[in-house]
Amino acid sequence: MRQADPLVIAHRGAPGYRPEHTLASYRLAIALGADYVEPDLVSTKDGVLVARHEAEISRTTNVGRRGEFADRLTTKEIDGRLVSGWFVEDFTLAELKTLRAVERLPELRPHNTRFDGRYDIPTFDEILGLVAVESQRLGREIGVYPETKSPAHFADLGLALEEPLLDALSVHGYGGPEAPVFIQSFDPANLQWLRSRTGLPLVQLVEATGRLDLVTSTGLRRVAQWADAVGVAKDLVLPRHPGSGTIGDPSALVADAHAAGLLVHVWTMRDENAFLPTGYRRGESPSDPGDSIEETQAFLDAGVDGLFTDQPDTTLEARRLHASGMRIHAAT
Ligand code: G3P
Ligand code: CA
Repeated sequence: MRQADPLVIAHRGAPGYRPEHTLASYRLAIALGADYVEPDLVSTKDGVLVARHEAEISRTTNVGRRGEFADRLTTKEIDGRLVSGWFVEDFTLAELKTLRAVERLPELRPHNTRFDGRYDIPTFDEILGLVAVESQRLGREIGVYPETKSPAHFADLGLALEEPLLDALSVHGYGGPEAPVFIQSFDPANLQWLRSRTGLPLVQLVEATGRLDLVTSTGLRRVAQWADAVGVAKDLVLPRHPGSGTIGDPSALVADAHAAGLLVHVWTMRDENAFLPTGYRRGESPSDPGDSIEETQAFLDAGVDGLFTDQPDTTLEARRLHASGMRIHAAT
């Protein structure tokens, strides 16, 4: 299943340039050349899958300014944490469609705020439709990389994400291990359930401070029983020095995962200094672009098979330069 070029996965679309998880963001990511687009999925009250990074929607929509929904402000426990705000599962799709997306990171990405209020929240079905239309129009196969968000929370509400996800993929013609799709989850039980019901590629996600038992050589062999790839926080591949914040030598993760038959995808490449390891930052401002091209090339050197990115054009250029052998000259 190893592909020729490491995949460039458009993380939430192209959120370096447009509010995340909007059709405009996915459309731009595709236009920039991304191989896959990544929707995070949650469920409306009436059981429709929509793209949002979390159930609580006040940071990425204008819901807090919509007086008619003021009485839906509440506090819930989700994934072991108390969260206050407005929750997608308390809105029907028709109600949700009256909201508009806003930029999540206006301090770091003020240029994106000019798009606030212009786009609605897309359904998974609309995203799959966009991918099909653009694949046909551009003559290249664009993949989709959906993530089930807070699956236990939605299952408890009677709004389990997995069946609608598999149904939607089936309706849109995705089937079998070679289909251009990766289904991802942090929850091994969620993936094990999916493995029992589908042959589509599955990805075990692991956070930098999460289930580290899953990324030992033994853990990775276990993961290979239910997944085809691991999607890991990038610090697990190139650990940062705890004092200086610089990245050092690669961990054994890529070699161990490959030995277990797993692909390795890393998240998330981002241009802004705020997200870059020491040594790749340029200029003073956290929102200034740093040398994410060189950072990306370090991950390509480490042998990863795919990179999630907020700026697909930068990551594609890093991949092109890496393939050509062109590296920055020390004297420049
Ligand atoms: O899905 C991979 C990566 O996106 C996980 O992080 O929080 O951006 O969904 P998050
Ligand atoms: Ca995600």
